[in-house]
Amino acid sequence: MTGALVVELGCGSGHNLAHLTTYGARCLGIDHDPAKVHRARTFYGHLPRLHLLLGDAAEHLRSLPPGSVDVCLSIFGAFSFTTPRLLLAATATALRPGGQLLIVLRADDRHDYITVLTRR
Ligand SMILES: C[S@@+](CC[C@H](N)C(=O)[O-])C[C@H]1O[C@@H](n2cnc3c(N)ncnc32)[C@H](O)[C@@H]1O
Repeated sequence: MTGALVVELGCGSGHNLAHLTTYGARCLGIDHDPAKVHRARTFYGHLPRLHLLLGDAAEHLRSLPPGSVDVCLSIFGAFSFTTPRLLLAATATALRPGGQLLIVLRADDRHDYITVLTRR
């Protein structure tokens, strides 16, 4: 993961990305809840490879250079709460060819769905 750009769509308190920085990833967390971003910055704002942005995931993805992202994550994140069409299109544009989108969705109280899609 060293040097890979990982973007979490709906990063909440930032703990997933804080963990990934320990593998050398450059991490960008986006969340539209100001309280969550404040909390993430309080916990992890000191980590040099972690940047945290307040706002809508699809909008921020569209502001990144096309093909610049190695991995997008939505761990019970933006894909759980948004009509997927626009977010999927923004993700596909931001990912490099071969880049991956991992989506974790809650199925029921005891099961989750995990999907990994690779950008062609
Ligand atoms: C259940 S929390 C999960 C947080 C984190 N991924 C985790 O695993 O702890 C879902 C988060 O997604 C954020 N979120 C939902 N839709 C979003 C969107 N369209 N853009 C940015 N953040 C979003 C919410 O504000 C919330 O913090």
